[in-house]
Amino acid sequence: MNIVLTGFMGTGKTIVGLLVAQKLGWKYIDVDNTIEKERGCSISEIFAEHGETHFRSIEAEAIKKLCSMDKIVLSCGGGAVLKKENITNLEKNGIIVCLKASAEAIYDRVKKDRSRPLLQVEDPLSKIKDMLKAREPFYKRCSFSVDTTSKTPAEITEAICNHPSISSLLSK
Ligand code: S3P
Repeated sequence: MNIVLTGFMGTGKTIVGLLVAQKLGWKYIDVDNTIEKERGCSISEIFAEHGETHFRSIEAEAIKKLCSMDKIVLSCGGGAVLKKENITNLEKNGIIVCLKASAEAIYDRVKKDRSRPLLQVEDPLSKIKDMLKAREPFYKRCSFSVDTTSKTPAEITEAICNHPSISSLLSK
């Protein structure tokens, strides 16, 4: 079984994923990094050259492959849960945890980062608010969520590892 982290951009999936993996002695894998390494280009370049729809199909392919691994902490981009197929594949062999944060906290964390093509707009805060609203029903389908707005990465890691669905997984 695996632990899958998802949630909106800037909710801390990378740092928390690394900490959870370190704590459990599991391997940490980031879907976006895997795609970038395989394709030899950045996520921004894929969006710019081929568009979001193409990125989503590459993402689904990568997720399908990575799901067959075991004892990994898998960090998925914030839009991965929009495809039912991804949820089905991830749930076959994993527990999906959603990281959350307020729109303002997300904005603060991502405002200087140019690597997220969907947020390179004139008013990123409004875009974040709109996207959070539109994605809420998808994020709700995750096993459980942790609000990261005012928690440290170590506290979020504890909250995940101590959650009953994860501790029961670990005791198996
Ligand atoms: C996206 C999130 C990004 C990346 C791509 C699209 C999204 O990953 O997959 O830019 O749709 O939310 P992070 O959530 O790791 O930033």
